[in-house]
Amino acid sequence: MTADDTALLRHATLAAMNWQAPTFTDAELDRPDFAHYFAGFDPSRDHGVVAVDGDGPVGVAWVRSLPADDPGYGFVSEDVPELTLAVEPRGRGRGIGNALLTRLLAAGRTAGWPGVSLSVEDGNTGARILYERVGFRTVGRNGDSDTMLVRFRPAPGGALVHQ
Ligand SMILES: CC(C)(COP(=O)(O)OP(=O)(O)OC[C@H]1O[C@@H](n2cnc3c(N)ncnc32)[C@H](O)[C@@H]1OP(=O)(O)O)[C@@H](O)C(=O)NCCC(=O)NCCS
Repeated sequence: MTADDTALLRHATLAAMNWQAPTFTDAELDRPDFAHYFAGFDPSRDHGVVAVDGDGPVGVAWVRSLPADDPGYGFVSEDVPELTLAVEPRGRGRGIGNALLTRLLAAGRTAGWPGVSLSVEDGNTGARILYERVGFRTVGRNGDSDTMLVRFRPAPGGALVHQ
């Protein structure tokens, strides 16, 4: 994912927010607490992966490192980037979400992030199962959502592994 992917990130942010039903409109994404998920994506600090099929991008997972004075809904600390994930309806149930998450977490371990956080709304059971499967655990509560965290820790040999 590059700095040119803002439109893709905006689309995916809306898909993640509207996981259940079309609750939010595209225009509402310009609210600062939503826009910071996609505006100004900077590959030197942020990281994202895109799945592509014959019709174009079909899924996206990315992290932003947001400051404490402009936190995301799944904020844990400034050194823990926050994840967003969305797969197009045409691609769901084929392992794409799992593949994107696995790839992104591997990149994070290699890069030495202390972990990754996220926010998952009550009722989004499919996403929650997927997150738990790759190692996320609930560490907090924000409104009607759980904050989940996967921590990486140095292994005895120096490699970073899931805690
Ligand atoms: C959640 C989402 C990213 C899952 O993507 P996906 O590509 O369909 O997920 P996968 O096919 O990789 O599924 C991996 C596992 O997650 C779980 N899972 C995913 N969707 C599920 C659902 N609807 N119900 C139950 N379990 C589900 C299953 O355990 C699944 O493994 P299995 O197929 O072996 O049973 C996708 O449904 C989506 O984009 N939803 C709308 C946006 C959203 O909710 N984003 C997350 C916001 S927190």
